[in-house]
Amino acid sequence: MCIASDLAQAGAAEKLVADMAAQKVELTGLINNAGFGDRGDFSDLPLQRQLDMIQVNVTALVDLTWRLVPQLKTARDAFVINVASTAAFQAGPNMSIYYASKAFVLSFSEGLHEELKKEGVAVSALCPGATASEFAQEANMTNTLLFKAGTMTTEAVVSKALAGRHRAIVIPGLKNLLMVWLGKLSPRMITRRLAGLLQA
Ligand SMILES: NC(=O)c1ccc[n+]([C@@H]2O[C@H](COP(=O)([O-])OP(=O)(O)OC[C@H]3O[C@@H](n4cnc5c(N)ncnc54)[C@H](OP(=O)(O)O)[C@@H]3O)[C@@H](O)[C@H]2O)c1
Repeated sequence: MCIASDLAQAGAAEKLVADMAAQKVELTGLINNAGFGDRGDFSDLPLQRQLDMIQVNVTALVDLTWRLVPQLKTARDAFVINVASTAAFQAGPNMSIYYASKAFVLSFSEGLHEELKKEGVAVSALCPGATASEFAQEANMTNTLLFKAGTMTTEAVVSKALAGRHRAIVIPGLKNLLMVWLGKLSPRMITRRLAGLLQA
């Protein structure tokens, strides 16, 4: 079954959950995957595009999770996978709202992981790096160093996400894992400048 929804619209999550209830959808897992980015300075990108980004990447994700967690608590081996990004681990000049939205998703998911594990619901933040999908084109990033340096396939990312769904944070791919760990060892001033260079 497929139910279409434009999550950039206020109230879309509420309607989607009502539609699911009307269709008697029984949920064991929730994957909050919808999201998009855009490359450009905050002050140059259209305000509405950036507000829509927050609505889809953050608000709809929170809204859907809050409405569906009660159902998940009654399911066996239930899980929530929130798609964050390696962008979640540092600020990203030239994509400031996108990086901040993914930092929210990571922090929110880690908190929820601890809250819900006693209720039998596994919550995981999936943090992919550059992945071959429509994302780069939508975000005007196809010519950036980040994407030219190579991408993972969506199949590989999905397989790591599902296998790791009981972990609080899943970073698929050795290159992405190394980048995140190197970032943790570096001062924030360095990591944010490097992020800016990778997507200049
Ligand atoms: N690709 C990467 O390099 C990468 C890296 C790190 C994190 N991510 C994250 O991975 C997630 C999936 O992205 P992707 O790589 O698969 O990119 P994608 O191919 O562009 O897919 C984006 C997905 O989000 C949905 N979406 C976007 N705006 C929406 C809206 N207003 N309402 C409902 N759905 C909407 C799209 O639905 P439609 O197809 O119906 O438009 C599509 O399913 C995103 O959260 C992205 O931030 C991607």
